Amino acid sequence: MTSQFPPLAQRFMQKIREDAEKGTYRLNIGEIRIDVFPYIFPPESDLSKSSRISQEINCRGEVLDVGTGTGILAMISILRGANHADAVDILPEAVECARHNVRLNGLQDRIRVFQSDLFCNVEGSYDLIVANLPILDYPEEDIRFHSLSDPGFQYHKRFFACARDYLKNKGKILMPHANLQTNGFKKLESLAELNEFKSKICNKQKFNGYTWRNYSLK
Ligand SMILES: C[S@@+](CC[C@H](N)C(=O)[O-])C[C@H]1O[C@@H](n2cnc3c(N)ncnc32)[C@H](O)[C@@H]1O
Repeated sequence: MTSQFPPLAQRFMQKIREDAEKGTYRLNIGEIRIDVFPYIFPPESDLSKSSRISQEINCRGEVLDVGTGTGILAMISILRGANHADAVDILPEAVECARHNVRLNGLQDRIRVFQSDLFCNVEGSYDLIVANLPILDYPEEDIRFHSLSDPGFQYHKRFFACARDYLKNKGKILMPHANLQTNGFKKLESLAELNEFKSKICNKQKFNGYTWRNYSLK
C-alpha cells in the first residue's frame, strides 16, 4: 500500500502527480537544461537532488548510467570529463525523456540512450557505473511511480549479481542511498558484500529529515 510509504515519499508522489498534470517542465541544473516529462523522476526539487552525487563522478573513460530517468547523471558525467556514456532505463517514457534532454544539451555524440531492464541490453564494460535506483522496498501499485519502488529489493539484488560483468578492471560503482526504511543502509551494504563488493561511503548529507549517502563500490 502506498500509504505505508514514508511521509517524504508520499509527499514526493503527490508532487510528481501535481507536476505531471501541468505537463513537461524545464529545470536548469548548473549548465544542464532538463525537461522533466510527466511522471519521470525529477532530479531536482524540494524532495530530490540527484546532482548531490556529482562531486563523486570524476571519470575520464566510459560511464554507464543505470536508471537514467531524465538523463541527468549521464550528462553530468560527460561535463565532468567522461569520454562517453551509455544511459539506460526500463521505462520507454524515461528513455524518450533522456534522449530529448541529451539532444537539448547537444550531447548526442557523447551519450547513447536505450531501453534496458538493468543490464539486459547492455554490452561492453565501463570505468564507472552510476545507479540511482528506486529505493523503497514496498509493493508497487502504480507503474507511474516506478522510479521510487523496488519491491523485495529485487532490482538491487539483480544489479549486484550482474554488475561485476560490466565493470572494467579498476572500474567502480557509484550508488546513492537513503535511510528511508529501517536498516536501509545495512541491507544495501550486506547485499554488496554478498556479491564481493567493498563499499565505501564517500559522502553523506541530511535532507528532509533523512540521511543520504553516496556509496562507492569496487
Ligand atoms: C530514482 S530514479 C533516478 C533517475 C535518475 N538517475 C536521477 O538520478 O535523477 C530511478 C530510475 O530507475 C529506473 N528503473 C527502475 N527499475 C529499473 C530497471 N530494472 N532497469 C533500469 N531502470 C530502472 C526508473 O524508471 C527511474 O527512472
